Amino acid sequence: MPSRRPECPSLRLIVGWAIDPHDQGMIEIEHISKRYGEKLAVDDISFVVKPGTVTGFLGPNGAGKSTTMRMIVGLDAPSAGTIRVNGGAYRDFRAPLHEVGAMLEARAIHTGRSAYNHLLAMAQTHGIGRARVEEVIELVGLSSVARKRAGGFSLGMGQRLGIASALLGDPQTVILDEPANGLDPEGILWIRTLLKQLASEGRTVFLSSHLMSEMAQTAEHLVIVGRGRVIADTTVEEVVSRASVGATVHVRSPHVPALRDALAGDGVRIQSRERETLEVHGLSAERIGELAAQRQLTLYELTPQRASLEDAYMRLTGDAVEYRTTTVPVVTDEILEQAA
Ligand SMILES: Nc1ncnc2c1ncn2[C@@H]1O[C@H](COP(=O)(O)OP(=O)(O)OP(=O)(O)O)[C@@H](O)[C@H]1O
Ligand SMILES: [Mg+2]
Repeated sequence: MPSRRPECPSLRLIVGWAIDPHDQGMIEIEHISKRYGEKLAVDDISFVVKPGTVTGFLGPNGAGKSTTMRMIVGLDAPSAGTIRVNGGAYRDFRAPLHEVGAMLEARAIHTGRSAYNHLLAMAQTHGIGRARVEEVIELVGLSSVARKRAGGFSLGMGQRLGIASALLGDPQTVILDEPANGLDPEGILWIRTLLKQLASEGRTVFLSSHLMSEMAQTAEHLVIVGRGRVIADTTVEEVVSRASVGATVHVRSPHVPALRDALAGDGVRIQSRERETLEVHGLSAERIGELAAQRQLTLYELTPQRASLEDAYMRLTGDAVEYRTTTVPVVTDEILEQAA
């Protein structure tokens, strides 16, 4: 990635809105709603996406993620509310590809053009040089197929081309709708590294995904939506910590029977799957350590089990899932506890 272009306040004043450095890179969504006929796809949501960090956008199918992303880049008009990107409205940007790079829901690219020509055409209409086209092709790993017809690309190659288009203008803000969809494991690792790097350069990175373990490793902040409303707007750490309260503590000791006696009490549930291990519910790791010490029972291992982001997400969105399969049971706290 080349270094950031220096900010030019006079340019910003020309396009009709006053510059405020605090707005740079912010996506500000205020009381946005979107109605399609009878369907309220987005229902009065407000949140802010900040620069310098990767923000994940999560939610069940049909929750309103893609609709929200489309509204951010002006492809759909909100029924109510306002959206500001870098302090202004997307439609007012003089050089939108430099302000916001977006890859929305990837569709097959029905084009006889090569990836190179597809990007070049885009670049030329936005005053971007050939060198940058070559650069993004290299960056997304399409060099060897760049002259081939993009219409014949596999899903993952199409995703890479979509990501190349999003990055073409070296934008301050990057919005990607399910970018990991269809990527192979190398591609998934690549996009994770890329997105973190973009954020570390001070850019705003906003992405949706259904891959929870991937999101846990990529994003720092999360906005979770369900049925068009915001369910959570906080850090990944906070979401996981909250879901981990009361989780099991894994204990390994050569004195399992004596330890069971020492730990027994109201609200405490103990399971033992192997000869030397216990899974303890209802006591903190600290309390288990103290009780074991009082009876001079040796512990080999004492590990509080943390919930995964997937566990946390399931709990948060359990009531907000519209399109549910009937063969998989609703995940309740009890099921999660039994599985722990
Ligand atoms: N152009 C449209 N016309 C009518 N309804 C629409 C349109 N676009 C979206 N919707 C409806 O709005 C709701 C939200 O859809 P959206 O695509 O934003 O969900 P999503 O969170 O992106 O879901 P997914 O995880 O499946 O991609 C859905 O009920 C969808 O059917
Ligand atoms: Mg979507």
